[in-house]
Amino acid sequence: MFHSVTWSVAVAAFSGGVSIWLASTRYQFFRSLWIPTSQAKLEEAEKLVMKTVKSPFQQRQVEIGNNLYINTVHLHNNSQTARLHETNLVLLHGFGAGIGFWLLNLDHLSSKFRNVYALDMLGCGRSSRPRFQAKTVGESELFFIDSLEKWRQQEELDKIVLLGHSFGAYIAGLYAIKYPNVVEHVILASPVG
Ligand SMILES: *[C@@H]1O[C@H](CO)[C@@H](O)[C@H](O)[C@H]1NC(C)=O
Repeated sequence: MFHSVTWSVAVAAFSGGVSIWLASTRYQFFRSLWIPTSQAKLEEAEKLVMKTVKSPFQQRQVEIGNNLYINTVHLHNNSQTARLHETNLVLLHGFGAGIGFWLLNLDHLSSKFRNVYALDMLGCGRSSRPRFQAKTVGESELFFIDSLEKWRQQEELDKIVLLGHSFGAYIAGLYAIKYPNVVEHVILASPVG
């Protein structure tokens, strides 16, 4: 009889082998069967999870030039009586993440700030995914910092408060060093780098 531990090890070894095999580009077709997803499915999934947010919000694809877009969620609290921070809070998610990481924070933040923006960084979530051609650390950093700056200009935000989580905090710090006149505060939540 097949011992269950032996079985688990065999399954683990098999799935490990399969992922390595699928990771090689020669097997693109099988890979597409293994990970059956698309932009449309991503959008559908995003719509579903965004239902968690109770406050009204706008969502738009902000064009930052070169046919590149930044997926943006904007919450505007128009209350005249509430005591709100009259500022633009910009949320930068962490590595391999996206707007969805803030879903459970958005309502609360919107009750404190006039404007809250959550965006998918370039190359992440439903933002554009251009070929990543950076060769150096500096170039890699600019990929994120420059696209964030172009986004800010498009949105016509004179001043922002940047709240970055993890890798987003690393980018927030670099952005603040490069554009100190724009950034009112930087909030580093569990930063890396
Ligand atoms: C605006 O802020 C007030 C006060 O904090 C809060 O009660 C209200 O729910 C907020 N409205 C929106 C749309 O977030």
